[in-house]
Amino acid sequence: MSDTKNLAIIGNPIEHSFSPAMHNYISKKMGLDYVYGAICAQECEFDNLITSLECKNYAGVNITSPFKFNAYKTADVLSEKAKKFGSVNTCVFKEGKIYGYNTDADGLYKSLLSHGVAVADKDILFIGAGGATKPAVVYFSELGAKSISIHNRTVQKAQEISDYVKKLNNYDIEIGINKNHYDLVINTTTVGMSSTIDLSPVNEISFIDENTFVYDMIYNPEKTVFLKMAEENGAKTANGLGMLIYQGIIAYELFTGVTLPDTIYNDILSDVFGK
Ligand code: ATR
Repeated sequence: MSDTKNLAIIGNPIEHSFSPAMHNYISKKMGLDYVYGAICAQECEFDNLITSLECKNYAGVNITSPFKFNAYKTADVLSEKAKKFGSVNTCVFKEGKIYGYNTDADGLYKSLLSHGVAVADKDILFIGAGGATKPAVVYFSELGAKSISIHNRTVQKAQEISDYVKKLNNYDIEIGINKNHYDLVINTTTVGMSSTIDLSPVNEISFIDENTFVYDMIYNPEKTVFLKMAEENGAKTANGLGMLIYQGIIAYELFTGVTLPDTIYNDILSDVFGK
């Protein structure tokens, strides 16, 4: 068998993922012998697939939609965060065991920090209650957010996250948009990309002002309609590219055990994304 170790992202669909380009760039830059591919899987084959990868010389895989809960259920050993979030986006294979991690919330947090935005003591609004929301809400509730609100088209899904966090650490999440001002607003919905590129997840944004920081997890387009509206209200904004890069850097370190230099973020930004 060759010495080259395999890595991959598993999801469906998967063809638009930037992860192969990002991870292969890091390996080349660091002179490490890993090759990162993309695997488009079906739900019915997920368990067999993931348990077969270590003997095919895979060091680990990233997991994306719709398999993060499947990976959570399949992992033999869960990190503290993966356990709390009920979701796994990074699996490491070691000695016949699957170790499950979740780097999404850390990626978001690091991206916010890079913009000088703190979480502690802030009034925070999440728009959306899909798979990307729960890890961030759980994490931010533990980082000392003053308040967390969730606004979602399907209220029941926001309520489920609220109930989950209440049970986990007795933190009260507010449902809906009830404040005149939020310090931090994060769009986790898919509204603003692909077929909804001309839409904003909310039309009335009087709760966003010049003292609000607005983050959109969407990075394509670079500036969503929602971010443009927020900027018209004087807010500072950022898209989700930073989150994508940071969660990838953390995952790469888990796969390889190598600590990457701080400069790697800017290297990826310029050499992979041309920014
Ligand atoms: P992901 O795993 O990427 O978070 P998801 O779980 O499908 O994706 O969640 C998508 C989010 O975008 C949800 O909050 C969804 O709202 P619903 O829970 O009501 O489905 C939101 N969303 C998607 N399309 C939307 C639309 N046209 N208007 C408003 N919200 C939308």
